[in-house]
Amino acid sequence: MQIIDGKKVSALVKEEVKKQTLELKEQYGITPGLAVVIVGDDPASRVYVNNKKKACELVGFKSEEFSLPAETTQEELLNLVKTLNEKKDINGILVQLPLPEHLDDKAVIEAINPLKDVDAFHAVNVGKIMLGEYDFMPCTPAGVMEMLHSYNIPVNGKNCVVIGRSNIVGKPMAMLLLHENGTVTICHSCTQNLAEICSKADILVAAVGKPKFVTADMVKEGAVVIDVGMDRDENGKLCGDVDFENVKDKCSYITPVPGGVGPMTVATLMKNTLKAAKIQNNL
Ligand code: GUN
Repeated sequence: MQIIDGKKVSALVKEEVKKQTLELKEQYGITPGLAVVIVGDDPASRVYVNNKKKACELVGFKSEEFSLPAETTQEELLNLVKTLNEKKDINGILVQLPLPEHLDDKAVIEAINPLKDVDAFHAVNVGKIMLGEYDFMPCTPAGVMEMLHSYNIPVNGKNCVVIGRSNIVGKPMAMLLLHENGTVTICHSCTQNLAEICSKADILVAAVGKPKFVTADMVKEGAVVIDVGMDRDENGKLCGDVDFENVKDKCSYITPVPGGVGPMTVATLMKNTLKAAKIQNNL
């Protein structure tokens, strides 16, 4: 069994982005800029946003944080997005989800200029992903693919099972695996015989949001197990969707939580922001 080191792979990706950012500055005087919008004080969102800002600093981007109170109205948020759409020095706009209940996240996402939608959540970008002709990669799924590539894990012809069908992870994850010729099954809350389907997977991606949901009996001997979960166990300790301790010995490869998929999401975001800056400057 080999542990897939997301920290290591993400560091390599960020190093490449840093190199290209320096070239962009030297050749064209352009510094990519990312606006990070956070509404309210969700502690997990706070951690994610801080990680994203730190990564910007590392690769040499300008990052601007807009921290809005939980009571922010839809109109105020939409106005901010509009302003950011217009700003020349902002190439990427990221509105951290989830938003407080009273806000309509769909309307906010659709208000973002698709060319600045570095999360690839806008319908235009989602459509492009479906067609396989995308500018921006969906951050978490693309991060997973990057890890598979980095460890030379083949997808072609493999049985791939994705647990979870969210717009952010499950659905785009399935598309990326399909683009690389995986035979993909998406499982969800209404799936019958979920454990049996999972136990046939060569590559199993867990994106359910339930602590230690994937148990050893659901994993095939020699499978590759990717854990997208960021959950808390019964003691409040950070854990994934996979019962790591009991599953790991059955796997050929497994991602840990933390230090697996999480850092890869941020690394892809950096790649997307660099690409956004290039596209917006016709490079
Ligand atoms: N919330 C959880 N994951 C993400 C993500 O990748 N992007 C944004 N904007 N919000 C999130």
